[in-house]
This record gives sequence, C-alpha cells and structure tokens, in this order.
Amino acid sequence: MHKTIIVSNRLPVDLKYIDNKLHVKSSSGGLATGMKSVHSEGNGIWIGWSGLAEDTMNSEQKNEVDQAIAQEKCVQVPLTEYDIDNYYYGFSNKALWPLFHYFQAYTEFEREHWESYVAVNQKFSEVILQHANDGDTIWVHDYQLLLLPELLRKKNPTLTIGFFLHIPYPSYELFRTCPWRYELLQGMLGADLIGFHTYDYVRHFLSSTSRIKEVEVNFNQISYNNRIIKVDSFPMGIDYNRYHNAALEHDTNPEHTKSELMKNIDLHNQSNEESKLILCIDRMDYTKGIPNRIKSFEYFLNKYPEFKGKVRLVMLAVPSRENVEQYQLLKRETDELVGRINGDLSTVSWTPVWYFYRSLPFNELIDLYVSSDIAMVTPIRDGMNLVAKEYIATRTKDTGVLILSEMAGAAKEMHEALIVNPNNFDQTADNIKAALEMPKEEQKRRLDALQKRISRYDVERWATEFLKSLEAAKNNKPPQAAT
Ligand code: ADP
Ligand code: G6P
Repeated sequence: MHKTIIVSNRLPVDLKYIDNKLHVKSSSGGLATGMKSVHSEGNGIWIGWSGLAEDTMNSEQKNEVDQAIAQEKCVQVPLTEYDIDNYYYGFSNKALWPLFHYFQAYTEFEREHWESYVAVNQKFSEVILQHANDGDTIWVHDYQLLLLPELLRKKNPTLTIGFFLHIPYPSYELFRTCPWRYELLQGMLGADLIGFHTYDYVRHFLSSTSRIKEVEVNFNQISYNNRIIKVDSFPMGIDYNRYHNAALEHDTNPEHTKSELMKNIDLHNQSNEESKLILCIDRMDYTKGIPNRIKSFEYFLNKYPEFKGKVRLVMLAVPSRENVEQYQLLKRETDELVGRINGDLSTVSWTPVWYFYRSLPFNELIDLYVSSDIAMVTPIRDGMNLVAKEYIATRTKDTGVLILSEMAGAAKEMHEALIVNPNNFDQTADNIKAALEMPKEEQKRRLDALQKRISRYDVERWATEFLKSLEAAKNNKPPQAAT
C-alpha cells in the first residue's frame, strides 16, 4: 500500500528552547493550520523543519527534539544556523516572498542565499528519499521548496509528485526579474500536478513557463521532457467543523472559554453596551496591510465622527520572521501608529485601537472571533487568507460582517463579503460604516451564502480533490507517447 508524504518547510509544530526547556507550540500560518487536519486524519508522515538550529543543540536536546517531532507523526530535516540565515530568512523570505507578493523594492537577490536554497532543497530531498518507497506520493508545499519536485523525480521517477503553492504566483513581468527564474521553473516542473489557489495564479504561471522555458502549453497542461504536467487551481479551505463547533461550544459556556485578553476588553467596555468590536488577526507581515488598516480606521473615525467612542479595532498580530529587517520596520511602524492614534483620539472611557503582538492558543482565538461584530481582512496581497474563512465559520448567531480585500485570493470565492481595495481609504471607511449599520437580515443573508460555500469546500475536500487530480495526472502521457 502506497503512502502519502506531506513536505513543507514549516512543520505543524514549532519548537523552541527557553531556559533549557523544550517548548512545543502549534505553528501559525495558513499552510500549517490548514494541512494540520489533513495530516491528523491521514496515515502518512509530514517532513519539515522543527524551527531549531541543529548546530546549536547538544545530543540530549537532539534526542528530545526527535521524540517530540515523532509524536506528531513528523520527521525533521535538520537545518543549521547558516541554512536558516541564508535559505530561510535569505532566499525564501528576502527574495521569493516579496517578489511573489509584488513587493519588488523589498526583494534581495544574493548569490549566497540562492546557493543555500539549492543546498537545503537537496537536504530535503535526501531525507524524503530515506522515507519514501517506490510508488509513494509526495505532496510538496510552498515557495521554500520550489526545486524539490525535480530533485525527487531525478532520483526516483516512480514517485507521484504534487506541488502546491500557498502564496500568489506573480505576473511574468515580475517573475522574470529573478536571476534564477529558469532553475525555479525547472524545479517546479518535476511535479505531475502543480496547484495554485486561484485561476489568475495558474495563468501567470503558464505564461512564465511558456515564455521562460519555451515549453508547449495546451490549455492547462504543459508538455515537457516527454511528460505532461497538469496545472490547476484548488482554492484552499479550512477545517470548517472544527471552527464552527468550537464557536458553538463557546456559546454554551462563554465564561469557561473566555480568554484573558477578552476579559480585559470586556471590563473596559462595561460602560458602553453599544460599543462594537472590529477584529483583525494576522501574522505581522507587510503583505497584510496592517498600517493601511490602522490608517483607514483613523480616516473612518474622522470622516464619521459620530462613531467615536462606539467602535474599537482589536488587532492581534502574531510575531513572524523577526530577523528580517522589513518585519522589524513594520513592527516599529505599527507600534508608532497605534500609539499616535490612541494618543490623539482616546478618551477616559474609550481606546480606539487595542493591539496585541503575540500568538494565541486555539480556544482564545475562537473567543476573539466569536466576540467580534466585524472582521477586517485587508491584505495588500495574499495568496488566499484563511482568517477570512475562519471568521465566517465561527458565526453561529447569524450576525457578523466580513470586510475583505480584493487583493486576497479568498475574495474570488467570498463575493458576499464587503469587498474593498485596501489602498482606498474612502471606500474602506464607507464599508466600515456600512458594516456597522448593516441590518440583521442582510448580515444573515450574506453569512448563509458564505457559510454554505465554505463548509462545502472545506480543507478535507480541497486535499481530496488535489490528490485525486494528482493521481489522474500521474497517468497522463503526452499525445506522441500514447500513440
Ligand atoms: P498566512 O498563511 O499568510 O499567515 P492565513 O490567514 O492564510 O495567512 O493563515 C493564518 C493562520 O494563522 C490562521 O489559521 C490563523 O488562525 C492563524 N493565526 C493568525 N494569527 C494568530 C495568532 N495571533 N495566534 C494564533 N494563530 C494565529
Ligand atoms: C505563509 C506561508 C507558509 C509559512 C507561513 C508562516 O502561510 O505560505 O509557508 O509557513 O506563512 O511563515 P513562517 O516563515 O513562520 O513559516
């Protein structure tokens, strides 16, 4: 019986030593939270990086880490400090991440980073090949591992290889600026099936491939090296029932599941029953549009001053990639903006922006989702955005409004949200007002449609459809080989 191996840079658990004690916490980010339920239902393993540097640990710690990871049905690819600096922070997060999100000015192309990216993709392939048997399926995820499909195919052509990109795929004009564009495409083309969140990303990929590699593209199939590679869109869903049921449980026992964070907000709010809460949850990343969101909230309060004292923005940001300068600058900018706006507008009984920079456990996240009247998900650019879907899943009382950026992949499926351009403050302010004043019947009508779609296309269905399509793609032969 063949097995399926999931491979991604980030494992579903993130390990850290604090005061010589091992801490294991759930990873944040859409890939890890989404694939986690697919992994726990299946019988395969997940291969990836633990979050620790191999060369900073003693042998006792290495054993402890191996055991903790094995308990999660995972296997680790040990990375050194050098790998982490150059492959992870370097090429993955200073070159590919900004490039693929259209932040060209942030993109750094360094040969040393690239060489490390090649070497670490090689490391991944070696670990995978130790665990894979002939005929197994390898499902590779995301931009940190673009070279892996080809490396695996070269060593073992019997493997069925799928690749899914969790971030946007940029237009050809942007992608062509990468000095290693040819090698990156060559790496991806080792897969039997290449998946993206939206049809636009598929189109951009096909256009880059045909212009850079001069392969033959036929509708959504690429003929290359006597193989046919299928390219398709698979919009990723969430574990709908997990979020929905947790919210139902919260409804039956709200005090028991209340987070410290919400208790504080509630206490502060007791003086004003009417006050509404707008929630934002993101990794602290420049693609998420955090400063724009704060500025558009300020713009809203100045455009519609009758709402001052009646609405608060609760922003939860999870620390991310803190070694990269652009992330440090973003943190500073956010701190300053929140400080300035609260300084300018707060009264004795009202603080407009509540900002928390931390990761939260699942039940506390649910508490925040459930307690909010509106969610504002306004990235500048986002492959999909699962927070938008999680918020909808936690609406159990037919109330709640989602304000969603048209730049998120999720906007392609969530038409009933209030869709905004995050750079248009007037439009965003008007939509905040519309959300605050939306009649209950309209909230319900929009939520019904969204919930129906998101519960049907959940993460399990997404994974099943990808794997089914991968199985079919594996048996594809180019026309000339078939005759
Ligand atoms: P990305 O993958 O770019 O981080 P997504 O919105 O697709 O963006 O996924 C983010 C995931 O991380 C969601 O599942 C969300 O619940 C989780 N998350 C975001 N912020 C926090 C936080 N502060 N604490 C815990 N989990 C978080
Ligand atoms: C996004 C990426 C993932 C990544 C996650 C968290 O969701 O698509 O590949 O794991 O962000 O980022 P990190 O760098 O902490 O893994």
